[in-house]
Amino acid sequence: MPKPPIRMGFLGCGRIADLQCLGYLEHPDAEIVAVCDLDEAAARRRAEAWGARRVHVDPEKLFADPEVDAVEILTPHHLHEAHAVAALQAGKHVSLQKPPTRTLAELDRVEAAAARSGRVLRVVENFMHYEPHRKALELIEAGAIGTPLSVRVKTAAGRFGDGWEVTPETQAWRLDPARCGGGATTFDHGYHCFQMGRLFVPAPVERVHAFVHWTRLGDDAWIDGPALVSWRYAGDPPRHGSWEVIASTGMRVPSKYYVSDDRVEVRGSEGIVWVNRCTGRLLEEPSLVVYREGETRAFHDLATDWADSFRAAGRELVDALAEGRPASQTLADARQTLAFALAAARSAAEGREVAIDEILADPDASAAR
Ligand SMILES: NC(=O)c1ccc[n+]([C@@H]2O[C@H](COP(=O)([O-])OP(=O)(O)OC[C@H]3O[C@@H](n4cnc5c(N)ncnc54)[C@H](O)[C@@H]3O)[C@@H](O)[C@H]2O)c1
Repeated sequence: MPKPPIRMGFLGCGRIADLQCLGYLEHPDAEIVAVCDLDEAAARRRAEAWGARRVHVDPEKLFADPEVDAVEILTPHHLHEAHAVAALQAGKHVSLQKPPTRTLAELDRVEAAAARSGRVLRVVENFMHYEPHRKALELIEAGAIGTPLSVRVKTAAGRFGDGWEVTPETQAWRLDPARCGGGATTFDHGYHCFQMGRLFVPAPVERVHAFVHWTRLGDDAWIDGPALVSWRYAGDPPRHGSWEVIASTGMRVPSKYYVSDDRVEVRGSEGIVWVNRCTGRLLEEPSLVVYREGETRAFHDLATDWADSFRAAGRELVDALAEGRPASQTLADARQTLAFALAAARSAAEGREVAIDEILADPDASAAR
């Protein structure tokens, strides 16, 4: 007997919906049956493009839709908690974009709703689904570089105006720390980079230090960059990581998406792994390179379009729901990454090193200035 498809409802038909839809549209066991956005015209456009049967402007109507099995939440961060809790209470599985919430207290309430409902709740952190990152992790776990000792992430933001169009409304909530939950760079984009910091070293992050400079963009608009974050992992051997973001506002960063690119270097006791791109295509190097014993191995055949990481995230949820297993990112994992981001924000604000445990013990810790 063929399995019934997983019926998705999309809440939020903004910028990233264009990529988040792909894994569901291309999966033989999934369909997008309903969409919802306050902007009815945007919702109608998406419904037509995706073959969705129903358009809602009120999220409650989407949550009450009996034909929807799971809701993909793609709204601004200050709405994530309310939308996730309401969808879970209505008996839907939930796929929630990163960062899941602005604070750990908000995350606690989402987690409690998920536990009460018995439904799946996963957080979409697409960098962990990007094939060069996945392959790097597979190689590292197989011992390709010995013991991983350090992770270095570098984000290169480029000239405004290149890349894809982002509406003023989207920019407005993202640059508003209250709605975003913190800085557009170090809290919003940072969530991915902190996840990368956690992914490649099998030890919890223990202490964090950050320098964050706030740069004026306009009358009332500020962006949190350049920034430099460093951290120490728990236990032995001594291991450290760092993330640096620099805006080279006169530099072209080739990208079909945001004008930004991310590189990761993982150093081990016996070798090095480099992932040379992610969101953009700054350098036309092999996406993944491994060095060991004087030999360099380059990977040229991985799926390197940033959109592929969203495809993989969509596929994973459908397969997990069909097989009745958890999907990544789990809430327990998301909690650690969120605490990491909040620790960096507190460190930058207070000019001191911050322990992750200090944040975990303070559910109301916030990165919003
Ligand atoms: N994984 C990534 O790399 C990545 C990239 C971009 C965005 N995101 C995440 O995706 C989410 C959405 O980001 P975006 O860039 O698409 O934002 P966006 O502003 O382009 O889209 C948000 C949409 O939500 C709609 N909306 C707002 N309030 C609503 C409400 N109460 N009810 C119904 N609709 C409502 C808006 O009208 C808008 O169309 C955020 O969580 C963001 O962090 C993730």
